[in-house]
Parts: sequence; C-alpha cells; structure tokens
Amino acid sequence: MRSIAVIGSLNMDIVNWVEKAPLPGETIRALATAYVPGGKGANQAVAAARAGAMVEMIGGVGQDDYGEALLENLRASGVRTEGVLLEPGVSTGIAFITVDALGENSIILAAGANGKLTPEKIGTEDRFAFRPDMVVLQNEIPYPTVAYALTYFAAMEKYIIYNPAPALKLPEDDYRKINLLILNETEAAVLTGGAVGSAEEVRNAAEILVECGCREVIITLGGRGLFYRNRERNMMFFLNAFKVPVIDTTAAGDTFVGAYAAALAEGLPVREVLRFASAAAALTVTRKGAQTSIPERADIDLFLRDRQCRK
Ligand code: RIB
Repeated sequence: MRSIAVIGSLNMDIVNWVEKAPLPGETIRALATAYVPGGKGANQAVAAARAGAMVEMIGGVGQDDYGEALLENLRASGVRTEGVLLEPGVSTGIAFITVDALGENSIILAAGANGKLTPEKIGTEDRFAFRPDMVVLQNEIPYPTVAYALTYFAAMEKYIIYNPAPALKLPEDDYRKINLLILNETEAAVLTGGAVGSAEEVRNAAEILVECGCREVIITLGGRGLFYRNRERNMMFFLNAFKVPVIDTTAAGDTFVGAYAAALAEGLPVREVLRFASAAAALTVTRKGAQTSIPERADIDLFLRDRQCRK
C-alpha cells in the first residue's frame, strides 16, 4: 500500500438547497441550509482515506470553530492532520454553495487560511507525518505554492495527480511535472483555450494536454462518463458513467480524484481504478453535501458487486 499526501484547501461549506438559483436582484428562500465540511483538498483526502488509503492532509485553517470541526472530521475519516497549520488572525476558508433541484451547484469561495499557504509553509517532506509516494494537488491554494509542490515532488520522482480546479492556465513548464491531470470539460476548455463538449473536442483537448507534457489525462464528463488518455502507453478510451439518481453533485469530482488515488495506490490496473473511482463519484451524487456524501470503501465495493451481478 502506497501513501498519499493531499496538499490543498479546507473549507467550511455553507450550503443552501434551493428550487432554482436566484437571478441577479432576486431574493429567494432556501429549502434547507447546512454547514458541511468541504474544500477540494480535504474532500479528496477524505475520499482517498474512506476508500482505504493511507492519507495525510497538508494545508491551513484559522484558529476558530470551523477549523476545529474540519480537523475533527478529517481525523474521524482516517486522515492524518499534523500537516495542517493553524493560521493566526485569519478565518478558516468558507465556501458559499447553492444547490438547485437538479443537483447542480454554484460556489463562492472566501479563501481565508487557504490563501496563506505559501511555498515556505509546505517546506520539505521532513515536516510531513510520513513521506508520501503520491501527491495530490488542486487550485484552491495560491498557485505559487502549487508550482513549488510540483517542482519539489517531481524532482523526488513522486507520482503527482493534479486536479486544476478552479481552472487557470498553467505555465508551460509545469505540465512536464504532472503524472496525471484530472479535470472536467470546463477546466479542460480553460487550459486548452478551446471548446470542450463533443467527443472530438474532448479527444483533441486530451491530446493537447499530453502534448504539453503530462503523461496521463482524464477528462471527466459528468453523467456522460470520462475520457482517458495515456501518452506513454498510447492508450485512449471513453468510459460510461454509472447511471444513478442525482441529488447533489458537490464533491463528486473530488471523490473521483481521491478514490482514484486510493485504488492506484493499491496497484489496481487502470480500467479497474477508473471503474472504482467512477463508482465512488456516482455514490456521492446520490447524497447531499461534500464530505457528508463521500462513500466508505464497503459502500463502493457493494455498489460495484451489485453492478457486476446486473450485467
Ligand atoms: O468541489 C467541491 C468543493 O468546492 C466544496 O466542498 C467547496 O468547499 C469548494 O471548495
């Protein structure tokens, strides 16, 4: 079993479930409201740990109740938290989330302590709870910190999974440091500068991204599944998504990333890893909230066994 360090954000999600998101100038009533542990980094760490991996979280929270609640939830999910810094004088990151009746969300981020995670605070792996074999990164911390981690861990030949969410255009040099890029269609459009919707556009975007230098690319396509491309093994294929009722899509992408890392750390072959991560993400959309919706290993195995029997 290989170990995983997730370097990224922790947020308290303040979620309003509504019939329909408000238009500009409109005031509406929420159907329900909740405070839910979230943040793309923490969600991915929880997904990997619940899927059975050895995981540590590297990030920052404020010295407040939200920060304490987030750390407690990580620990309860089996994630090591020694690498999460308590930032004085700043609040824990907050995400204001609206989820409509179709399960689609919109998110406003207040970075708080996530914005204070400088490269110096990542330092070297000596300050981590353990030396990771695999490193998982996203974009809710400052990009110079992401860039530092890419350079430092690539030089150490760690396996790097990068989920460029929220999307931003990457410096060309950084692509070569990424083993696996996992992104959705919207993010792929930002990184490649072209439309990404049709099957052909998806294939082209993945081609551009591997030509930029990353070895593998997964473009997730929501209910349509995903596209996988591996440059070195010259592999490419589409994989369908599992059909499930959609309640709330929050953290589905994060669950895919974390579960993928966990299954890869176990040494499963790529098609099995993809199926496992897709099952975990499918379960997530059937439940409400971010970390409240991320499945345990037993749920994922049961879901997959059930689908196997129905074939
Ligand atoms: O990807 C979902 C996450 O994005 C939420 O948990 C929220 O915190 C935002 O970071």
